[in-house]
Amino acid sequence: EAIATWQAGQLVAMPTETVYGLGADACNDEAVAAIFARKGRPQFNPLIVHVANQPMAASYVQFNEKALALAEAFWPGPLTLVLPRTSDCPVSLLASAGGDTLGVRMPAHPVAQALLQAFGRGVAAPSANRSGRISPTCAAHVREEFADNPPFIIEGDAASIGLESTVIGLASDSAVLLRPGSITQQEIEAVIGPVELAHAQSAITSPGMLASHYAPSHRLRLNVSEVREGEVLLAFGDDVPQGVQQVLNLSPAGDLKQAAARLFAYMRQADTLAETGIAVMPIPMEGIGVAINDRLRRAAAKK
Ligand code: TXA
Ligand code: MG
Repeated sequence: EAIATWQAGQLVAMPTETVYGLGADACNDEAVAAIFARKGRPQFNPLIVHVANQPMAASYVQFNEKALALAEAFWPGPLTLVLPRTSDCPVSLLASAGGDTLGVRMPAHPVAQALLQAFGRGVAAPSANRSGRISPTCAAHVREEFADNPPFIIEGDAASIGLESTVIGLASDSAVLLRPGSITQQEIEAVIGPVELAHAQSAITSPGMLASHYAPSHRLRLNVSEVREGEVLLAFGDDVPQGVQQVLNLSPAGDLKQAAARLFAYMRQADTLAETGIAVMPIPMEGIGVAINDRLRRAAAKK
Protein backbone atom coordinates (compact mmCIF):
# COMPACT_ATOMS: atom_id res chain seq x y z
CA GLU A 1 0.00 0.00 0.00
CA ALA A 2 2.89 2.36 0.76
CA ILE A 3 4.50 1.64 -2.60
CA ALA A 4 1.20 2.22 -4.41
CA THR A 5 0.81 5.49 -2.51
CA TRP A 6 4.27 6.65 -3.65
CA GLN A 7 3.53 5.53 -7.20
CA ALA A 8 0.36 7.64 -7.10
CA GLY A 9 2.50 10.69 -6.19
CA GLN A 10 1.35 10.83 -2.59
CA LEU A 11 3.10 11.01 0.77
CA VAL A 12 4.10 8.18 3.10
CA ALA A 13 5.65 8.77 6.52
CA MET A 14 8.21 6.08 7.31
CA PRO A 15 10.40 5.14 10.26
CA THR A 16 14.17 5.52 9.96
CA GLU A 17 16.87 5.02 12.57
CA THR A 18 17.23 8.81 12.99
CA VAL A 19 13.72 10.29 12.89
CA TYR A 20 10.52 9.59 10.93
CA GLY A 21 10.61 10.92 7.37
CA LEU A 22 7.77 12.32 5.24
CA GLY A 23 8.53 10.63 1.93
CA ALA A 24 7.50 11.04 -1.68
CA ASP A 25 8.75 9.87 -5.09
CA ALA A 26 11.89 12.01 -5.52
CA CYS A 27 11.54 11.95 -9.32
CA ASN A 28 7.98 13.33 -9.35
CA ASP A 29 7.84 17.16 -9.21
CA GLU A 30 4.29 17.33 -7.94
CA ALA A 31 4.92 14.73 -5.26
CA VAL A 32 8.00 16.62 -4.05
CA ALA A 33 6.04 19.89 -4.13
CA ALA A 34 3.42 18.19 -1.93
CA ILE A 35 6.08 17.60 0.75
CA PHE A 36 6.91 21.32 0.89
CA ALA A 37 3.21 22.19 1.04
CA ARG A 38 2.34 19.69 3.77
CA LYS A 39 5.25 20.78 5.97
CA GLY A 40 4.92 24.50 5.27
CA ARG A 41 8.60 24.27 4.38
CA PRO A 42 10.35 27.22 2.71
CA GLN A 43 11.17 26.41 -0.94
CA PHE A 44 14.82 27.38 -0.40
CA ASN A 45 15.39 24.46 2.00
CA PRO A 46 16.49 21.39 -0.02
CA LEU A 47 15.41 17.80 0.75
CA ILE A 48 17.40 14.63 1.38
CA VAL A 49 16.85 11.82 -1.13
CA HIS A 50 16.86 8.35 0.43
CA VAL A 51 18.34 5.55 -1.65
CA ALA A 52 18.25 1.75 -1.48
CA ASN A 53 21.82 1.15 -2.61
CA GLN A 54 25.04 2.69 -3.90
CA PRO A 55 24.26 2.37 -7.66
CA MET A 56 21.02 4.27 -7.10
CA ALA A 57 22.95 7.00 -5.26
CA ALA A 58 25.55 7.12 -8.05
CA SER A 59 22.83 7.68 -10.65
CA TYR A 60 21.70 10.80 -8.76
CA VAL A 61 24.96 12.41 -7.59
CA GLN A 62 28.65 12.46 -8.58
CA PHE A 63 30.77 10.70 -5.98
CA ASN A 64 34.31 11.87 -5.38
CA GLU A 65 36.92 9.91 -3.41
CA LYS A 66 35.95 11.34 -0.02
CA ALA A 67 32.28 10.66 -0.64
CA LEU A 68 33.01 7.07 -1.64
CA ALA A 69 35.10 6.55 1.47
CA LEU A 70 32.36 7.96 3.71
CA ALA A 71 29.64 5.88 2.04
CA GLU A 72 31.81 2.82 2.43
CA ALA A 73 32.37 3.56 6.12
CA PHE A 74 28.93 4.72 7.23
CA TRP A 75 26.20 3.52 4.82
CA PRO A 76 23.66 2.29 5.47
CA GLY A 77 23.35 4.70 8.38
CA PRO A 78 22.77 8.21 9.72
CA LEU A 79 24.96 10.12 7.24
CA THR A 80 23.82 12.46 4.45
CA LEU A 81 26.24 13.42 1.68
CA VAL A 82 25.66 16.63 -0.28
CA LEU A 83 27.18 16.20 -3.75
CA PRO A 84 26.83 17.61 -7.29
CA ARG A 85 23.86 16.23 -9.22
CA THR A 86 24.69 13.98 -12.14
CA SER A 87 24.09 15.56 -15.57
CA ASP A 88 21.07 13.31 -16.17
CA CYS A 89 19.83 13.23 -12.57
CA PRO A 90 16.12 12.31 -12.67
CA VAL A 91 15.41 13.71 -9.20
CA SER A 92 13.09 16.73 -9.09
CA LEU A 93 15.00 20.04 -9.00
CA LEU A 94 12.71 21.04 -6.14
CA ALA A 95 14.59 18.56 -3.93
CA SER A 96 17.75 20.58 -4.65
CA ALA A 97 15.87 23.84 -3.98
CA GLY A 98 16.90 24.87 -7.48
CA GLY A 99 20.63 24.36 -6.81
CA ASP A 100 23.05 21.95 -8.46
CA THR A 101 23.69 19.74 -5.41
CA LEU A 102 21.63 17.00 -3.82
CA GLY A 103 21.69 15.42 -0.37
CA VAL A 104 21.60 11.60 -0.44
CA ARG A 105 21.34 9.09 2.39
CA MET A 106 21.02 5.31 2.61
CA PRO A 107 19.08 4.62 5.81
CA ALA A 108 19.81 1.54 7.93
CA HIS A 109 16.30 0.99 9.31
CA PRO A 110 15.01 -2.36 7.98
CA VAL A 111 11.55 -0.96 7.19
CA ALA A 112 12.98 2.03 5.30
CA GLN A 113 15.37 -0.31 3.47
CA ALA A 114 12.59 -2.71 2.47
CA LEU A 115 10.42 0.17 1.22
CA LEU A 116 13.22 1.74 -0.82
CA GLN A 117 14.16 -1.59 -2.37
CA ALA A 118 10.57 -2.38 -3.26
CA PHE A 119 9.98 1.11 -4.71
CA GLY A 120 13.19 0.97 -6.73
CA ARG A 121 13.58 4.75 -6.89
CA GLY A 122 14.76 7.51 -4.57
CA VAL A 123 12.43 8.85 -1.92
CA ALA A 124 12.70 12.51 -0.94
CA ALA A 125 12.02 12.70 2.79
CA PRO A 126 12.53 15.50 5.26
CA SER A 127 11.71 14.89 8.90
CA ALA A 128 7.94 14.34 9.24
CA ASN A 129 7.16 17.48 11.23
CA ARG A 130 5.70 20.84 10.33
CA SER A 131 8.50 23.21 9.35
CA GLY A 132 10.49 24.60 12.28
CA ARG A 133 8.99 22.18 14.80
CA ILE A 134 10.40 19.24 16.74
CA SER A 135 11.31 16.18 14.62
CA PRO A 136 9.19 13.05 15.21
CA THR A 137 10.85 9.98 16.75
CA CYS A 138 7.74 7.79 16.76
CA ALA A 139 4.59 7.35 14.65
CA ALA A 140 2.40 9.08 17.25
CA HIS A 141 4.46 12.28 16.85
CA VAL A 142 3.76 12.24 13.12
CA ARG A 143 0.02 11.92 13.76
CA GLU A 144 0.29 14.79 16.24
CA GLU A 145 2.07 17.02 13.69
CA PHE A 146 -0.51 16.49 10.97
CA ALA A 147 -3.57 15.86 13.15
CA ASP A 148 -5.96 17.69 10.80
CA ASN A 149 -4.87 15.80 7.68
CA PRO A 150 -2.52 12.87 8.44
CA PRO A 151 -0.50 11.32 5.61
CA PHE A 152 -0.23 7.54 5.20
CA ILE A 153 1.94 6.60 8.21
CA ILE A 154 3.92 3.40 8.61
CA GLU A 155 3.72 2.43 12.25
CA GLY A 156 7.30 1.48 13.18
CA ASP A 157 9.26 1.43 16.39
CA ALA A 158 10.66 4.47 18.19
CA ALA A 159 13.75 5.79 16.37
CA SER A 160 16.85 4.18 17.87
CA ILE A 161 19.11 7.23 17.36
CA GLY A 162 16.55 10.00 17.72
CA LEU A 163 18.54 12.85 16.11
CA GLU A 164 18.66 13.65 12.39
CA SER A 165 21.58 12.45 10.27
CA THR A 166 24.98 14.10 10.15
CA VAL A 167 25.09 16.19 6.94
CA ILE A 168 28.43 16.60 5.14
CA GLY A 169 28.87 18.93 2.16
CA LEU A 170 31.36 17.52 -0.37
CA ALA A 171 30.37 19.47 -3.46
CA SER A 172 33.50 21.65 -3.36
CA ASP A 173 37.13 20.77 -2.56
CA SER A 174 36.74 20.95 1.18
CA ALA A 175 34.42 18.87 3.31
CA VAL A 176 31.98 20.90 5.42
CA LEU A 177 29.95 19.75 8.42
CA LEU A 178 26.51 21.16 7.58
CA ARG A 179 24.66 19.52 10.47
CA PRO A 180 26.15 17.59 13.41
CA GLY A 181 24.62 14.19 14.18
CA SER A 182 25.34 10.87 15.83
CA ILE A 183 28.30 10.26 13.51
CA THR A 184 30.74 12.76 14.97
CA GLN A 185 33.15 15.15 13.27
CA GLN A 186 36.03 13.06 14.68
CA GLU A 187 34.63 9.87 13.17
CA ILE A 188 34.28 11.62 9.78
CA GLU A 189 37.80 13.07 10.00
CA ALA A 190 39.24 9.64 10.79
CA VAL A 191 38.06 8.60 7.29
CA ILE A 192 38.61 11.69 5.08
CA GLY A 193 40.81 14.09 7.04
CA PRO A 194 39.93 17.65 8.11
CA VAL A 195 36.32 18.82 7.97
CA GLU A 196 35.36 22.50 8.16
CA LEU A 197 32.55 23.74 10.33
CA ALA A 198 29.76 25.54 8.50
CA HIS A 199 29.43 29.15 9.64
CA ALA A 200 26.15 30.71 10.61
CA GLN A 201 26.50 33.02 7.54
CA SER A 202 26.28 30.00 5.28
CA ALA A 203 22.74 29.32 6.52
CA ILE A 204 21.53 29.48 2.96
CA THR A 205 23.83 26.64 1.85
CA SER A 206 22.13 24.41 4.40
CA PRO A 207 19.02 25.89 5.91
CA GLY A 208 19.03 23.22 8.62
CA MET A 209 21.67 25.55 10.05
CA LEU A 210 18.99 28.23 10.52
CA ALA A 211 19.13 29.61 14.02
CA SER A 212 15.58 28.78 15.06
CA HIS A 213 14.48 25.22 14.47
CA TYR A 214 13.19 22.19 16.38
CA ALA A 215 11.19 24.66 18.43
CA PRO A 216 8.69 23.82 21.16
CA SER A 217 6.07 26.49 21.88
CA HIS A 218 7.45 27.22 25.35
CA ARG A 219 10.67 29.13 25.92
CA LEU A 220 13.73 26.95 26.47
CA ARG A 221 16.57 27.94 28.85
CA LEU A 222 19.85 26.09 28.51
CA ASN A 223 22.67 25.10 30.93
CA VAL A 224 20.37 25.70 33.86
CA SER A 225 21.27 25.01 37.47
CA GLU A 226 18.29 26.76 39.08
CA VAL A 227 14.77 26.08 37.93
CA ARG A 228 12.12 28.84 37.92
CA GLU A 229 8.47 28.70 38.91
CA GLY A 230 6.32 26.88 36.35
CA GLU A 231 9.24 25.42 34.42
CA VAL A 232 9.66 21.76 33.52
CA LEU A 233 13.22 20.52 33.99
CA LEU A 234 14.90 18.44 31.30
CA ALA A 235 17.55 16.80 33.46
CA PHE A 236 20.71 14.88 32.59
CA GLY A 237 22.62 12.68 35.02
CA ASP A 238 21.98 12.05 38.69
CA ASP A 239 22.87 15.48 40.12
CA VAL A 240 19.36 16.93 39.69
CA PRO A 241 18.37 20.15 41.54
CA GLN A 242 16.07 19.39 44.48
CA GLY A 243 12.46 20.45 44.87
CA VAL A 244 11.56 20.78 41.18
CA GLN A 245 7.92 19.85 40.50
CA GLN A 246 8.24 18.42 37.02
CA VAL A 247 11.41 16.58 36.00
CA LEU A 248 12.01 14.60 32.83
CA ASN A 249 15.44 12.98 32.99
CA LEU A 250 17.05 12.41 29.58
CA SER A 251 19.44 9.92 31.16
CA PRO A 252 19.79 9.44 34.92
CA ALA A 253 22.93 7.40 34.22
CA GLY A 254 24.44 10.20 32.11
CA ASP A 255 24.39 8.18 28.87
CA LEU A 256 24.50 10.60 25.90
CA LYS A 257 23.10 8.07 23.39
CA GLN A 258 20.10 7.47 25.62
CA ALA A 259 19.64 11.23 26.01
CA ALA A 260 19.74 11.68 22.21
CA ALA A 261 17.14 8.96 21.68
CA ARG A 262 14.81 10.58 24.24
CA LEU A 263 15.45 14.26 23.48
CA PHE A 264 12.66 15.07 20.99
CA ALA A 265 10.00 12.97 22.76
CA TYR A 266 10.85 14.64 26.08
CA MET A 267 10.85 18.10 24.48
CA ARG A 268 7.33 17.42 23.23
CA GLN A 269 6.23 16.13 26.62
CA ALA A 270 7.84 19.04 28.47
CA ASP A 271 6.05 21.42 26.12
CA THR A 272 2.66 20.05 27.13
CA LEU A 273 3.50 19.99 30.86
CA ALA A 274 5.20 23.39 31.14
CA GLU A 275 3.40 26.44 32.47
CA THR A 276 6.10 29.03 31.85
CA GLY A 277 9.01 27.34 30.12
CA ILE A 278 11.45 24.46 29.81
CA ALA A 279 14.77 24.46 31.69
CA VAL A 280 17.56 22.19 30.44
CA MET A 281 20.55 21.05 32.47
CA PRO A 282 24.03 21.19 30.86
CA ILE A 283 24.77 18.34 28.42
CA PRO A 284 28.46 17.50 27.88
CA MET A 285 29.92 18.47 24.47
CA GLU A 286 31.30 15.00 23.78
CA GLY A 287 30.35 12.53 21.06
CA ILE A 288 26.66 12.84 20.19
CA GLY A 289 26.46 15.55 22.90
CA VAL A 290 27.62 18.03 20.22
CA ALA A 291 24.52 17.24 18.13
CA ILE A 292 22.24 17.32 21.19
CA ASN A 293 23.54 20.79 22.10
CA ASP A 294 23.14 21.92 18.47
CA ARG A 295 19.44 20.97 18.49
CA LEU A 296 18.90 22.51 21.94
CA ARG A 297 20.51 25.80 20.84
CA ARG A 298 18.21 26.03 17.84
CA ALA A 299 15.19 25.08 19.93
CA ALA A 300 16.09 27.90 22.34
CA ALA A 301 16.78 30.51 19.64
CA LYS A 302 14.40 33.43 19.17
CA LYS A 303 11.94 32.79 16.33
O1 TXA B 1 18.02 11.87 9.53
C1 TXA B 1 17.62 12.60 8.62
O2 TXA B 1 18.41 13.22 7.89
C2 TXA B 1 16.11 12.72 8.42
C3 TXA B 1 15.58 11.35 8.01
C4 TXA B 1 14.12 11.38 7.61
O3 TXA B 1 16.38 10.83 6.97
N1 TXA B 1 15.80 13.71 7.45
C5 TXA B 1 15.94 15.05 7.71
O4 TXA B 1 15.56 15.88 6.67
O5 TXA B 1 16.35 15.47 8.77
P1 TXA B 1 15.37 17.45 6.87
O6 TXA B 1 14.80 17.92 5.58
O7 TXA B 1 14.57 17.73 8.08
O8 TXA B 1 16.82 17.99 6.98
C6 TXA B 1 17.66 17.96 5.86
C7 TXA B 1 18.85 18.83 6.10
C8 TXA B 1 18.49 20.28 6.12
O9 TXA B 1 19.31 20.92 7.07
C9 TXA B 1 18.85 20.72 4.70
O10 TXA B 1 19.08 22.09 4.64
C10 TXA B 1 20.07 19.88 4.44
O11 TXA B 1 19.81 18.64 5.05
N2 TXA B 1 20.26 19.64 3.01
C11 TXA B 1 19.56 18.80 2.22
N3 TXA B 1 19.96 18.88 0.94
C12 TXA B 1 20.93 19.80 0.91
C13 TXA B 1 21.75 20.37 -0.12
N4 TXA B 1 21.60 20.01 -1.40
N5 TXA B 1 22.65 21.30 0.22
C14 TXA B 1 22.79 21.67 1.51
N6 TXA B 1 22.06 21.20 2.53
C15 TXA B 1 21.14 20.28 2.24
MG1 MG C 1 13.82 18.60 9.71
